Amino acid sequence: MSDLILQGSVVAQANVNIALIKYWGKAPERGVWEQNLPAVPSLSLTLDGLQTETRVRFAPEAADDRVVLDGVTLEGGALERCRPILERVRELADLAAPFHVESTNRVPTAAGLASSASGAAALAAASSRCAGLTLSLEELSALARLGSGSACRSVFPAWSAWEGAHARPIAGPEHWDVALVVAVIDAGPKSVGSRDAMNRTARTSPLYAGWVGSARADFEAGLRAVEARDLHALSIAMERSTLRMHASAMGADPPILYWKPASLSVVEVVRELSTRGVPCGWTMDAGPNVKVLCEGSSADEVREALAGIEGVTEVIVCGPGPGLQVAVEREAS
Ligand code: PMV
Repeated sequence: MSDLILQGSVVAQANVNIALIKYWGKAPERGVWEQNLPAVPSLSLTLDGLQTETRVRFAPEAADDRVVLDGVTLEGGALERCRPILERVRELADLAAPFHVESTNRVPTAAGLASSASGAAALAAASSRCAGLTLSLEELSALARLGSGSACRSVFPAWSAWEGAHARPIAGPEHWDVALVVAVIDAGPKSVGSRDAMNRTARTSPLYAGWVGSARADFEAGLRAVEARDLHALSIAMERSTLRMHASAMGADPPILYWKPASLSVVEVVRELSTRGVPCGWTMDAGPNVKVLCEGSSADEVREALAGIEGVTEVIVCGPGPGLQVAVEREAS
């Protein structure tokens, strides 16, 4: 245990991560704190420049936890998504006091990138440290997972893999000079959130079993490609993983279709670029925006090609980013 922060606060920063090999579907919960265990292994890249900063302090005078995100006090489902992390921290630290949480997303508003992963990772780090817990990165990863499955990967810098209770680091930003170029097509909220969508897919899609059955081979191919810095092999594995994930979702009842015409246009341009000798691969999450992975040296060329596509409203270039950063801000008593 480190000391409980009663005077002052703890501030943590975590960055957004994008899965190259996808998580889609949950394993059965075997007991308490077993939520968001993955049915399939995933592999991701934590990005620089897209970050959540979260400040946590105890609020013994308050009746309940208060979470303020970008100046707005969370209520209902948004507050409840933070609750498992805060409850688990209180249980581990044997405390009862409510937390006061202030969180800021440093993600361009037009980015259309989910900040739930960076948000849950920053919340896990700041609240646990505030409660006097000294958790390992693996334990922080498992704690972040309670808020959002994919958050467990934002604990680690650059390349990380997730199977089971927590993610693990694969390689840092220095391992490979790549860029993830985000083609923004719709920056608004998702038509169906990832949690509901993956549960519906698992419950109703006849294609779900095929997705789960084939996921490990893509994961292993992805791991080998990252280790070898082989963009061609990684592109094949990431596109196959993405297409199979989306195929399983399209097979749900009612169907889940995140694609917009411009999403397909981006995929076509990525194919043209690859044919022209600019190696790159694409992926898509629970929304129509397409993320293109390329060598850092090709980032400008890829950005220009994507910016010219009708329906692409913005293009954002990111590199591999850092893992969690935590600082204690004490007040003189
Ligand atoms: O953990 P969630 O609810 O943020 O789900 C993430 C789902 C995808 O973004 C589509 C894939 C992934 O591995 O991040």
